[in-house]
Amino acid sequence: MKHADIKEILISEAEIKKKVKSLAAALNKDYKGKKPILVSVLKGSVVFLCDLIRELEFSPIIDFIGVSSYADSTESSGVVRLLMDLRESIVGKDVLIIEDIVDTGLTLSYLKRNLLTRKPKSLKICVLLDKKECRLKKIDVDYTGFIIPNKYCVGYGLDYAEIYRHLPYIGVLKSEIYRQQK
Ligand code: IMP
Ligand code: MG
Repeated sequence: MKHADIKEILISEAEIKKKVKSLAAALNKDYKGKKPILVSVLKGSVVFLCDLIRELEFSPIIDFIGVSSYADSTESSGVVRLLMDLRESIVGKDVLIIEDIVDTGLTLSYLKRNLLTRKPKSLKICVLLDKKECRLKKIDVDYTGFIIPNKYCVGYGLDYAEIYRHLPYIGVLKSEIYRQQK
């Protein structure tokens, strides 16, 4: 059932499920016999991480990093802040960043730069959604789920002002919802 605040469902639960399986199949091939650290970017990527790891045939270490570039708005502030750091050392480890969405690319390029200073053995990026046309910073993504248009999406971990993360699909918010909250 579609939530009353959602204008359209962009990606259904079934489509997400299928895509997560195919991303996991690629990871199973590339990380066979390895024990990578999956760095989940809080909070949006958590739902994706939970579904993804249950399709893996290797046992990853999972860790979390908190960054913020949006202060309860639908446009990037352009400023990335580290809110919470990893617990694990990544020196000499295979690291895979798990992110919900890449938009301007500022968050992932900040994270990549930051994590590379810690000398991991390898560093790759896996994102569920890519708003390719919005890129301000070039960033190479190794595993991409869906390329989507420039619409503000919620659900499957993604929020608007901390709401809608629980929706099992990815939907576009009705525009009057942003107006109400601004
Ligand atoms: P970037 O730094 O502009 O690439 O933005 C990445 C971050 O912005 C993501 O980790 C999300 O938290 C957030 N973001 C970008 N687009 C959306 C969206 O459509 N819905 C919800 N969050 C978004
Ligand atoms: Mg995020």
